[in-house]
Amino acid sequence: MAYEEFKGQSRLPKFAVPKRYDIRLAPDLVGCKFSGAVSIEVDIVSPAKYIVLNAAELSIDSNSIVFRPRSNSRELRAVGVGMIEEDEILVMEFPNELPSGIGVLSIAFEGILNDKMKGFYRSVYEINGEQKNMAVTQFEPADARRCFPCWDEPAAKATFKITLDLPSELIALSNMPVVEEKLRGSLKTVYFEESPIMSTYLVAVVVGLFDYVESHTSDGVKVRVYSQVGKTNQGKFALDVAVRTLELYRKYFSVPYSLPKLDMVAIPDFAAGAMENYGLVTYRETALLYDEQNSAAANKQRVAIVVAHELAHQWFGNLVTMEWWTHLWLNEGFATWVSYLATDSLFPEWKIWTQFLDQTTEGLRLDQLAESHPIEVEVNHVTEIDEIFDAISYKKGASVIRMLQSYLGAECFQRALASYIKKYSCSNAKTEDLWAVLEEESGEPVKKLMDSWTKQKGYPVLSVKVIDQKLEFEQSPFLSSGFPTDGQWVVPITLCFGSYDARQNLLLQTKSETRDMKECAWIKLNVDQTGFYRVKYDENLAAKLRRAIESNMLFATDRFGVLDDSYALCMAAQQSTTSLLSLMGAFREEHEYTVLSNLINISYKVRRIVADAAPEVIDNVNQFFISLFQYHAGKLGWEPKPGEGHLDAMLRGELLTALAGLGHESTLNEATKRFDAFLSDRNSPLLPPDIRKASYVAVMQKVSKSNRSGYDALLRVYRETDLSQERTRILGSLASCPDPDIVLEVLNFLLSSEVRNQDVIFGLAVSSEGRETAWNWLKDNWAHISKVWGSGNLLPRFISAIVSPFSSFEKAKEVEEFFVSRTKPSIVRTLKQSLERIHINARWVLAVQKEEHLAQVVQELAYMK
Ligand code: BES
Ligand code: ZN
Repeated sequence: MAYEEFKGQSRLPKFAVPKRYDIRLAPDLVGCKFSGAVSIEVDIVSPAKYIVLNAAELSIDSNSIVFRPRSNSRELRAVGVGMIEEDEILVMEFPNELPSGIGVLSIAFEGILNDKMKGFYRSVYEINGEQKNMAVTQFEPADARRCFPCWDEPAAKATFKITLDLPSELIALSNMPVVEEKLRGSLKTVYFEESPIMSTYLVAVVVGLFDYVESHTSDGVKVRVYSQVGKTNQGKFALDVAVRTLELYRKYFSVPYSLPKLDMVAIPDFAAGAMENYGLVTYRETALLYDEQNSAAANKQRVAIVVAHELAHQWFGNLVTMEWWTHLWLNEGFATWVSYLATDSLFPEWKIWTQFLDQTTEGLRLDQLAESHPIEVEVNHVTEIDEIFDAISYKKGASVIRMLQSYLGAECFQRALASYIKKYSCSNAKTEDLWAVLEEESGEPVKKLMDSWTKQKGYPVLSVKVIDQKLEFEQSPFLSSGFPTDGQWVVPITLCFGSYDARQNLLLQTKSETRDMKECAWIKLNVDQTGFYRVKYDENLAAKLRRAIESNMLFATDRFGVLDDSYALCMAAQQSTTSLLSLMGAFREEHEYTVLSNLINISYKVRRIVADAAPEVIDNVNQFFISLFQYHAGKLGWEPKPGEGHLDAMLRGELLTALAGLGHESTLNEATKRFDAFLSDRNSPLLPPDIRKASYVAVMQKVSKSNRSGYDALLRVYRETDLSQERTRILGSLASCPDPDIVLEVLNFLLSSEVRNQDVIFGLAVSSEGRETAWNWLKDNWAHISKVWGSGNLLPRFISAIVSPFSSFEKAKEVEEFFVSRTKPSIVRTLKQSLERIHINARWVLAVQKEEHLAQVVQELAYMK
C-alpha cells in the first residue's frame, strides 16, 4: 500500500476532521488487556481515498474498519490498512475517494493494560491484604492513541461519548457523569454523558475500587475526591480546596466551570504529579491526600498548589487549549502562575507569592544554561514533546507572566484574561492570540515586550554602575558557563532609592541607558523580584545592599533576590565565592521561610564546590553554615509551639534537615533520640511529621556497614506505613548516608519491587561521599533502567540527579563517552544540560582555588558571634 507519503510527518494531514467519538472499552483487570471499539464522526473536508490518524500499540482488527458516509447509506470497507510504527500513525485506504461531508468511521481493536503509567495502564493497590489492579488513563501529551485510534492533536477537538464494560462491583469514572448503568450478570455496562468539545489528551477513564467524599460549589458543581477504601478522611482537605478554588476561578475568569461534576482521584502509580483531565483529575497520592496525623505542612501546601494548578487548567487548557505543543507553556506557565494566585487567596498566611520566588529562581537556573531552550519551542516529532514539560515551560513561563502582570497592573491583566477565555472558549489559541487581547486591553506593546522573553532562550543580567553621579544600566545575556552569546530583551525595570517610597520604573529597550542618580543609603533593582532577570551591582552598590540587609531595610523578596543573584554570579565566576560567603553572613538573623530555605539550598551547593576545590577549609565552612542555621533553629525548637504558623513548621523541618546534613552533633543526637521514641510508638508526639525527614537524615548520617541498625529501622518504617508521603520522606533521606557501601545498598533497594517505579526518583539524592558510587551504579544498571523507565518522563531524572553534581572536566568527558552509544531522543537535552552543569562546576572549582582570602574569611565567618 502506498502510504509512504505519510511517513515522517509530524502532523496528521487535514483532509478529515473528527467531530464526535463514540468509544466503548472493556478492560480486563486480571488479564491486563482491553478490547475496544470506536465510531468517529468525521468531516471529510477534502476528498481522498485515505484516512490517516494516530494509533500505537493497538492491534487493529482490519476487517472491522468501515466508513459510512452520511449522505448515502453505502458503507465503504477499508481495502488496505497500515501502521507506521515510528510515527504512531494508522493509514486506512478505501476503494474510492470518500465523499466530502460527514461520515462515521468504525474500528475495533485490542490493547494491553500496560505498566508504563501512560496510555491505558494498570496501577496496583492492596485491599484486605490482596493485590488488585485498577485501570487508569494518562494521555497527555500524546498517548490517547495507545487506548483508541484518534486524531491525537490538541487542535483536533471533538465531543466524546464513553461506554465502559467492567465487573459489576467496581467503580467506573470518566470525564462526564454516568447516564445509565446496565447490569449483565457479574458485569455491568456504564454509559457516560457526551462531553463538550475537547482535546483527546484530556479524555480519561478510571476503573477500580474506591471510596469518596463529596461536596458542592455554590453554583451546584458536584465535587468528589476518590481515594482507596478506608482513606476518605485524607481527601477532605483537597475537597475543600477544590470547592473554594472553583468558586474563585469562576469569578476570576468570569466564566463558570463548564462541566456538571468534578472528580479527583488518587492513583497509586502515577508518572507526573497530577493530570488535569476534563472533569476527572488524576493525582499521585502525595499530591492529593492529606493526613492530619502524618502529613507535614509542606505536604499540605503541595496538595493545595497541585489542586489549584489542575483546576486552573479546567479553564486554561481544557476550555481554551493550545493550538500545538509549541504553546504548551500557555497551559503550564499559566496554570502555575494562577495556582499561586488561588493559594494566596485561600491561605494568605503562607506568603505564597514570596515562595513563588522558588519558581522564578528554578526557571532562572535552567535558563542560564546554553543548553536551555526558548519558551516557545518548535516541536516536530511526538518524541520531542515530553522534554518540554520542564522548568522553562512551567517556571520561566509562570515568571514572565508574573512580570507582565506586574507591568500591566492586576486589574487590567485580569480583564484581559477573562476576555481571552471568553473569546477562545471551546477552541484553540496561540501565544500571540493572548498577546493581542492583552495589547488591546492595556494599550501597551505587549507582543514586542513578550516576544523577547518567549521566542529567545535565556535572560539578561543588568549591570548597574554609578558613573559621574549617573546610574548606568547595561543588559547582556547571562550564562553560567560564561560563553559569549547574543540576545537583547525589553526589560521592565523597577528600582528603589533607599526606600520603598522612592520608586522608579523604566522600560529598557536598548542595550544600555543612564538615569540621574539620587544619593541614598541603597539602591535595589527588580523591586519585589517580579522581573525575570538578574542584577549585578558595582562594588559600592553591592556593599550598600549588604548593609541594608543586615539592618533589615529590605523586603524578604528583595533579600532573596540579592542573595540569589550573587550566588548565580558566583557560579558564573563573575564574582568571588569569598564575597558570596560574606554576603551569606549578612543573613544571620534572617527569619523569612523562603529566604532561609534558599540560603540552605545555596549552602548545600557551595559546600560541595568548596569540598572539591579547597578541602582544607571545609570544616570551617560547615561550622559557618551551622552557626547560620542554628540561630533560627534554636528559636524554633523541635516541637510545634502553640499557635505557630505554617511557615514555622516548614522552616523547622528544613533547618533541622540542613543541620543534620552538616553533621551538627547535638542535632544528630536529639534527632536520634526522637527517632527511637517514634520507633516504639508511631504516634509519639516527639516526632511530628514536620521534623521526620530531618530525623531520618540524622539517623542515616550515623549509619555505616558496621552499624546499620538505623537503616534497618527506617526500612521497617517504610515497609509498615501505608502513607505515600511517609514513604517519599524515607526514600528522600536514605542516600544521604556518608557510607558509599550503604549508598549502593540504597540504590539497589530503589530498583527492587518494594519501590514503585514512580518513586525511584526521590531516592536519588545522594551524599557527596556516595557520588562516585552512584555514577558506577547508574552505568552498571543503565540497560535495565533505560528499559524500565525509558518510555516515560522519569528517565532524564536519573541522569540529572546523579551526573550533575560532578565538578571536573575529566568526569564530564567520561559521562559523555558513556552515553555516546546509549543516547536516545528523550534524554538528549537533559544529558547536554547535565554535562554543561559539570563544566560550570569545574570552572567554579578552579575559580575558588584561585581565591586568596577564602580561608581567612571563612575562618572569621565560622567563629563570628
Ligand atoms: N499537565 C500536567 C501533567 C503532565 C505532566 C502531563 C507531564 C504529561 C507530562 C499537569 O497539569 C501538571 O503540570 N502537573 C504537575 C503539577 C503542578 C502542580 C506543577 C506535575 O505533574 O508535576
Ligand atoms: Zn499543568
